[in-house]
Amino acid sequence: MRTHTRHKVPESQTEPQQSIFTAPSMTDPEPLMTTTIRSPLAQKVAGAPKSELHIHIEGSLEPELIFQLAQRNHVQLPYASIDTLRAAYAFTDLQSFLDIYYAGASVLLHEQDFYDMTMAYAERALADNVVHTEIFFDPQTHTERGVPIATAVAGIERALAEAEQRGLSSKLILCFLRHLSEADALATFEAALPLFEQYQHRLIGVGLDSSERGHPPSKFERVFAKARALGLKLVAHAGEEGPPSYIYEALDLLKVDRVDHGVRSIEDPALVARLADTRVALTVCPLSNLKLCVFDDLTKHTLKALLDKGVAVTVNSDDPAYFGGYVNDNYFATLDALQLNDAELYTIIRNGFEASFVTPAERAALIARLDAHWHGKPAH
Ligand code: HPA
Ligand code: ZN
Repeated sequence: MRTHTRHKVPESQTEPQQSIFTAPSMTDPEPLMTTTIRSPLAQKVAGAPKSELHIHIEGSLEPELIFQLAQRNHVQLPYASIDTLRAAYAFTDLQSFLDIYYAGASVLLHEQDFYDMTMAYAERALADNVVHTEIFFDPQTHTERGVPIATAVAGIERALAEAEQRGLSSKLILCFLRHLSEADALATFEAALPLFEQYQHRLIGVGLDSSERGHPPSKFERVFAKARALGLKLVAHAGEEGPPSYIYEALDLLKVDRVDHGVRSIEDPALVARLADTRVALTVCPLSNLKLCVFDDLTKHTLKALLDKGVAVTVNSDDPAYFGGYVNDNYFATLDALQLNDAELYTIIRNGFEASFVTPAERAALIARLDAHWHGKPAH
């Protein structure tokens, strides 16, 4: 399934690496602002404080950063240049993306690499007025290359702590790769136990990602039960490519607090009604769904139909470096394609705060900030 070569951490490379963040022109090759003229409603969305609840940090690695890290870490990539890599971003389904996504992640070896990747994402999120983010990471992608989970978490945490000072609060969610065995997930969970303790302010949950078809949530019932027993938050990708039955399994067997994607729930009216009644949120990623051919056109996206039925849908970027946009781009494309109005956009943004894993006081403060922006009410 994987196409990339495995790389162990070179013995000679144990020294801390110099941050490439000292050279913004290298890490930020594309302008954060575009000159596109947006409608007043799109501008209102762009300026609104927002959350992001579905972002794989390894999916925020822009091609330029992949090549810089490959050079810094002496990792041989199966792509000759940035352009060749970018040209490969023509996905036909989830698996065709995952093969390239895992190849891209193979450049991550040191704490500094995880820091640089996370800081680059934080800059983009702040530029989009994301004020709270809940980030996924895939430890098994790194441990299989000899990189300890603690190295990944330490680098991600250092960047997130810095970003917090700049107005971006965050949580971290450890995802199990569903194409691997449950035994592997259990071993990963056991290895991460000290980290859940050490980083309890940040590392607050577990999730389930990677190849969906043929790997139903039921395969991971035991490891999710263990995570639940520890009081961790639970999420799972379900109903992206997989059928509605996978969403039922995520709810009934894994007992998730949120469903990632979940767009195929629309095929089952009873499931839609249940999601609406229970307000279990869906973290929808419109540009991802478009790029992975879940829908052949954004006008066919089910987000608005789900919203109309009372489902707590949110808008997120998934793997923004691969799918053509960060959070604001996802809103812009969706509001255009589905002709979303002011009230619908307010509801979606608010859903993102309602569904966040923050304290009730933090949630109230986030919603007050949204209201101040949206309705001109003073934030208190
Ligand atoms: N789906 C499943 N696994 C993933 C994804 C996704 O969209 N992105 C990164 N891992
Ligand atoms: Zn995802």
